[in-house]
Amino acid sequence: MPEPDIAALALAGLRARPKTLPPLLFYDDAGCALFYRITELPEYYLTRTELGLLPRVARETAALLAPPAALVEYGASDEAKAGYLLNQSRAGAGLFAAYVPIDIAAPALGAMAARVRSRWPGLTVSPIVADFLTPPRLPPGLDGMARLGFFPGSTIGNLDPPAARRFLAGARTALGPGARLLVGVDLAKNPAILLPAYDDAAGVTAAFNRNLLVRLNREAGADFDPAGFDHRALWNAAEGRIEMHLVSRRAQQVRVAGSLIAFAAGESIHTENSYKHTLPGFAALARAGGWATARVWTDPAQLFSLHLLSA
Ligand code: AVJ
Repeated sequence: MPEPDIAALALAGLRARPKTLPPLLFYDDAGCALFYRITELPEYYLTRTELGLLPRVARETAALLAPPAALVEYGASDEAKAGYLLNQSRAGAGLFAAYVPIDIAAPALGAMAARVRSRWPGLTVSPIVADFLTPPRLPPGLDGMARLGFFPGSTIGNLDPPAARRFLAGARTALGPGARLLVGVDLAKNPAILLPAYDDAAGVTAAFNRNLLVRLNREAGADFDPAGFDHRALWNAAEGRIEMHLVSRRAQQVRVAGSLIAFAAGESIHTENSYKHTLPGFAALARAGGWATARVWTDPAQLFSLHLLSA
């Protein structure tokens, strides 16, 4: 896939009412580093809860697959999670013969593929630089293999329900008959837990959000004053989602790729949705996407869930 046209994506969102920017723009090198710091914050329970579930989930998922198997990961920026699956073996040999990580962040993906090749020497690693929303055709050679799709981290939460259903249906078509899909899904809960996860005391999430503007200044001919925008996270109960916004602190005009964009004081750029599902709600979404739920794992506090779907 060609590099996404950053300026065109940004302008389309900034000309819309209300103004938006697509979350895929978060993940330049600085954004990937900030996101990694978010995953280690005390308030951000998602990553550590999912990692706590994965040893058992990987073992029990692997038990359902026959070698040689292929792992296709959507939104793969480091191998920490996939590693639990790639380490699974059968009769002394690795269960997985092929690994296809798909991610929009080319540098992080390349570095990760190199690490995976040296850590699992027998594995065929075929990285694909793409937005997971428009998943490309899979490389040839996976046909005889048991195929497991992997979409961890509650990245599916960035998609509104129709887009999530389309993603699930597209993955089902791409992965083919008999495939399985393991999805990490954050769960609806008390906003007193949700909100700090998206507005941490150390301000890392605010920096992650504002980094969008820093990136547009560098890559889209923009002249944003990042300090002229406040980070705001809110729980939209009616939609079941956390929203992140950048709110203009004053009336201002900003140049983006040769166009002037006007902001009223208090006007927001909606930068991300993070949907929080219920267990039955996600099962229904999976069904609408053409999948049956084979198994669900959650932590004792029901903060986070992993869903094994079968085609
Ligand atoms: C990577 C999309 C799962 O929505 O929780 C973290 C991104 N945004 N803090 C999420 C994110 C703000 C994250 N996902």
